[in-house]
Amino acid sequence: MKRLTLLLLCSVITSAFAAPKVITADRMIDVENGKLIKNAVVVVDGNRIQAAGVQGRITIPEDAERVDLGDATLMPGLMDMHVHLTSDATKHGYKRLSVSLPRAAITGVKHAEDTLMAGFTTVRNVGAPGFADVALRDAINAGDVAGPRMFVAGPSLGVTGGHCDSNLLPYEYEQYSEGVADGPWEVRKAVRRNIKYGATVIKFCATGGVLSKGTKVGAQQYTLEEMEALVAEAHLRGLTVATHAHGTSGIKDAIRAGVDSVEHVSLLDDEAITLALENGTYFSMDIYVTEYILGEGEKAGILEESLNKERIVGKRQRENFEKAVKAGVKMVFGSDAGVYPHGDNGKQFARMVKFGMTPIQAIQAATIHPATLLKQQETLGSLSEGKFADMVAVPGNPLEDMQKMEDIRFVMKDGQIVKTLAM
Ligand code: ARG
Repeated sequence: MKRLTLLLLCSVITSAFAAPKVITADRMIDVENGKLIKNAVVVVDGNRIQAAGVQGRITIPEDAERVDLGDATLMPGLMDMHVHLTSDATKHGYKRLSVSLPRAAITGVKHAEDTLMAGFTTVRNVGAPGFADVALRDAINAGDVAGPRMFVAGPSLGVTGGHCDSNLLPYEYEQYSEGVADGPWEVRKAVRRNIKYGATVIKFCATGGVLSKGTKVGAQQYTLEEMEALVAEAHLRGLTVATHAHGTSGIKDAIRAGVDSVEHVSLLDDEAITLALENGTYFSMDIYVTEYILGEGEKAGILEESLNKERIVGKRQRENFEKAVKAGVKMVFGSDAGVYPHGDNGKQFARMVKFGMTPIQAIQAATIHPATLLKQQETLGSLSEGKFADMVAVPGNPLEDMQKMEDIRFVMKDGQIVKTLAM
């Protein structure tokens, strides 16, 4: 950690006068065209990409500082559209009740660094009590701590007693999550409050969930009327909306209400796919997390009822992932890290390929598509002229072996090299 801080500090100091950087590698992934480029070079000036392409066809500034990665594949910084940086994967259920807001925020600092070191230079944090994600984002942007670029939701919105409420305690300890809002005007007000305290994306729960106590995973919670009000309010203010939805009717009403992405999407049907295609809705399907929940969940405090729900949902979700991919639904990488350990995000890539994606599609789902979902395609998502210099590299060729995505050896964020190991 100390070494990293020093490294960051040095690069902050030097970047003010820094010479351009020239990164070369045997291969690079062009996510815009879905192609592998051999003998690649990227020129970085300050925090932006000046040029990227094939070596020999790009003019290299004479004073450039050179980094040759050799037998490696360079690609844009990875983007995870579903994380909870302030959540601890070893504390679920009643164990989580003992974690104070400040403690969660401090844990988030470590998780932010773990996430960045795993190659995720941008994340969408879809739910954090106490606006701890806003504080973390601000600390990262100020250079106080190392972490990815963060798009943050603050507290997730949901109905009384729903998946986004806190239902662990009996009535005499009556307690609600901060995001509880019922009825069209309450949800509009909750959106306004989240924006007031720094949210840049709105997250709400349309259906029950796996990890919440007493909710039916397939049952809808918000009505279409409430969802329409919520989405209209968020869009009016220029924010996109992410929706937790496992159950079929909740998925479909969320899409009808105009949400930008649906998370989990476990129990979809053909009509849900058609609606998503018609509306251009993104799906963010966390198909790795089931392995952690069923393997480590009990030790981490996950309730028995949640394990039972997971046994049904995980399998259906993987089958439906394959269906949605085949149908051509727009897919983004979303892991739900926080339920499982931060830094293990990349384990999902191999599963995405196992369940129907091509390797290029899986990498596009974690680069160019999230940039478009976040409406940041001008600055993020690909190694193209003018974009922020966020890039990562793995040894060898990940298109031949997706597990290489779990072995990130080089990370540059905002023009600064924050990790570099021998390939
Ligand atoms: N946060 C989600 C929930 O509690 C996790 C679902 C994980 N399971 C899955 N198969 N994706 O509902």
